[in-house]
Amino acid sequence: MTSPDALPDFMAACQTRAEAALDARLPAETRMPERLHQAMRYSALGGGKRLRPLLTYATGQALGLALDLLDGPAAAVEMIHVYSLIHDDLPAMDNDTLRRGKPTCHIAFDEATAILAGDGLQALAFHVLAHDPSIRVPAENRVAMIECLAMASGSLGMVGGQAIDLDAVGQALDLPTLESMHIRKTGALIRASVKLAALAQTPIEPVVTDRLDHYAKCIGLAFQIQDDILDEESDTQTLGKTQGKDRDNNKPNYPALLGLAGAKQKARELHESALDSLAGMGPEANLLRELSRFIIERHH
Ligand code: IPE
Ligand code: IPE
Ligand code: MG
Ligand code: MG
Ligand code: MG
Repeated sequence: MTSPDALPDFMAACQTRAEAALDARLPAETRMPERLHQAMRYSALGGGKRLRPLLTYATGQALGLALDLLDGPAAAVEMIHVYSLIHDDLPAMDNDTLRRGKPTCHIAFDEATAILAGDGLQALAFHVLAHDPSIRVPAENRVAMIECLAMASGSLGMVGGQAIDLDAVGQALDLPTLESMHIRKTGALIRASVKLAALAQTPIEPVVTDRLDHYAKCIGLAFQIQDDILDEESDTQTLGKTQGKDRDNNKPNYPALLGLAGAKQKARELHESALDSLAGMGPEANLLRELSRFIIERHH
C-alpha cells in the first residue's frame, strides 16, 4: 500500500487496514466455541477509532517501514485494547451498556461470555506477536515486542491503572496520583503502540526510539485527559458510549481536579511537548504530529 500523507486519508486507510488485520486473525464465528468467537468478533470488529493501530502504522511510516510489516503488531495492540474495553464496561467495573455505538459485550451476550471474550483476545494478542508472518524481524525483536506488550498490559501498566481507577472511586486524588493512574491505564498501551513499530525496525535506532517514546508518553496522557474532557462535555450519540459516566460513578478525573479549562490547557501543553520530542525528525514524522493534534482536538 502506498501511504497517503494527509491525516484523514491515512486514518481512513489504516482503519480499513486494521479492521482487515483483525478480521484475518480472529477465529471464525463458526469455529467452536461459537458463542465465544462471536463475542470476540462482535467487540473487535466494526467500530472504534483504531487509534493504537494508527499510531503503530504512523510510527512505521516515520521509520520508513512498509505497513504490511506492522499488521500483526497493530492487530495485537488493538486486541488488548478491545479486551480492556470489554472488561472496563462490566458491571463490576464501570457498568456501561453502550460501547462504540452498540450494546456492550456483556449486554449483547452475557457477563461470563464477556469475561472470556476479553481473556481470549488477550491471549490471541500474544499469540499473534509470537507467530504472525507479517513480523519479519529476528527472534530477539519478536521477544522484545512480546515483553513490551506484556508490560504495557499487566499490573504495572493498563491493568494496574484500572486497579487504581477502581480504588479511587469517591476519592479526591491529588494531581500526581491521578497522572500516574492515567499513565498506566491508557498511556502504557499507547506507548506500546509506538514502541512495537520501533521494534519492527532492524537495526533499532536508539536515539529515534527515545524520541518516539517521549512523544508517545506525552500523547498517551493527553489522550486520557481528552477522554475525561469528552466524558464531561460531549454527548452520548457522538461518543458512542454513555456521556457523564465519570461524574455518575464518582470517578476522579482531570476536569474534576483542574476544571475544564485547566484540563484543556494541560492537554495542549502535552501536545506541545509531544511535538518538541519529534523536533529532530523531518516530514516523515508529520503524521505523528497530526495524530497528536487529533488526540487533543477529537470529538469522540
Ligand atoms: C477508550 O479508548 C478507552 C480509553 C482508554 C480512554 P478509545 O477512545 O480509543 O476507544 P475506541 O477504540 O475509539 O472505541
Ligand atoms: C478506560 O478508561 C481505560 C481502559 C479501558 C484501560 P475509561 O473507563 O475512562 O474509558 P471509557 O470512558 O469507558 O471508554
Ligand atoms: Mg474505566
Ligand atoms: Mg469506562
Ligand atoms: Mg472515560
